[in-house]
Amino acid sequence: HFSTGIKLSNKNVIIKNVTVIGGGIMGGGIAQVAAQTGHNVTLVDVSEDVLKNSKSKIETSLARVVKKLFGDNKEKGELFQKETMGRLNYRTSLVDSVNEADLVVEAVVENIDIKHKVFTQLDSVAPEHTIFASNTSSFLIKDMAKVTKRLDRFGGLHFFNPVTVMKLVEVIKMPETSQETHEALIKFGTTMGKTAVEAKDKDGFIVNRLLIPYLMDSVRMLERGDATARDIDTAMKLGSGHPMGPIELVDYIGLDTCKFALDGWHQKEPNNPTYRPIAMLDKLVSEGKLGVKTGAGFYEYKKK
Ligand code: 3HC
Repeated sequence: HFSTGIKLSNKNVIIKNVTVIGGGIMGGGIAQVAAQTGHNVTLVDVSEDVLKNSKSKIETSLARVVKKLFGDNKEKGELFQKETMGRLNYRTSLVDSVNEADLVVEAVVENIDIKHKVFTQLDSVAPEHTIFASNTSSFLIKDMAKVTKRLDRFGGLHFFNPVTVMKLVEVIKMPETSQETHEALIKFGTTMGKTAVEAKDKDGFIVNRLLIPYLMDSVRMLERGDATARDIDTAMKLGSGHPMGPIELVDYIGLDTCKFALDGWHQKEPNNPTYRPIAMLDKLVSEGKLGVKTGAGFYEYKKK
């Protein structure tokens, strides 16, 4: 029942086998939803511990999805859970994880050197037909694609946290991305149950270009002492109908991710006041207070 207004031609690239690189919040979520929607998924991370953690997070989240989809129908729910888990493989070696991949979705940390390393390695081992996509929140797709020899088979697929719940995927086309690749990425996104929007390869695409400046302005408001964190959050939830207030959303996304985006854009446009650094954010990040995932950010969280 999900639809998109984007018209597709008949060219068909079938995406069945998907490799997701990076077992963090986003990588785990993308892997989970891809498996839920019938794809064979390989989730890759260099760390066994990270993979163990993502597997357990996927199990918990899948149980919520099953409850929602199947309610009291225990038998069907258990089958769905079993089949989904059966489609998920976990690997620590990147080289062995892409032999059969139709699509690779990169969701590693927002560090351009690490992303370059991943894509260079992938390009040398992935089959000819494999499409590469990045889930970057703040880099340009072309800045990653340039280290590969498959610009025509490279695009952006930007999902939102929590991937199981958020209904959008941004599909980013570079001028070099072939129409066939672009359409395959849109189709993959809609098969995952998301509504796809097309965005140009510009800083922040659509959502983050609008969302991050708003979130950062809310942190500046807090830093100036104009309102408390609770009041800023309550105000935007009740006054603007947002599901989360901006301060709690920064905690949810991760202070580090927000800072990466802000700093990257500040470097590009040092005179743009929208992107100027925020001492309060920098301090929390330097203290390791990255938000929900570390148990503290602007708020404190119970460790799970
Ligand atoms: N796995 C599975 N299901 C989940 C889930 C998860 N991790 N989290 C929530 N759900 C489901 C619940 O089962 C529930 O289903 P129901 O409505 O059928 O009962 C539903 O989602 C709502 O969950 P809750 O009742 O627990 O909580 P809320 O109603 O408060 O919703 C929220 C939680 C969906 C996270 C909501 O607060 C929200 O939409 N927040 C804003 C999130 C947002 O803006 N995300 C985008 C961030 S930007 C980004 O990701 C881009 C990056 O590049 C920075």
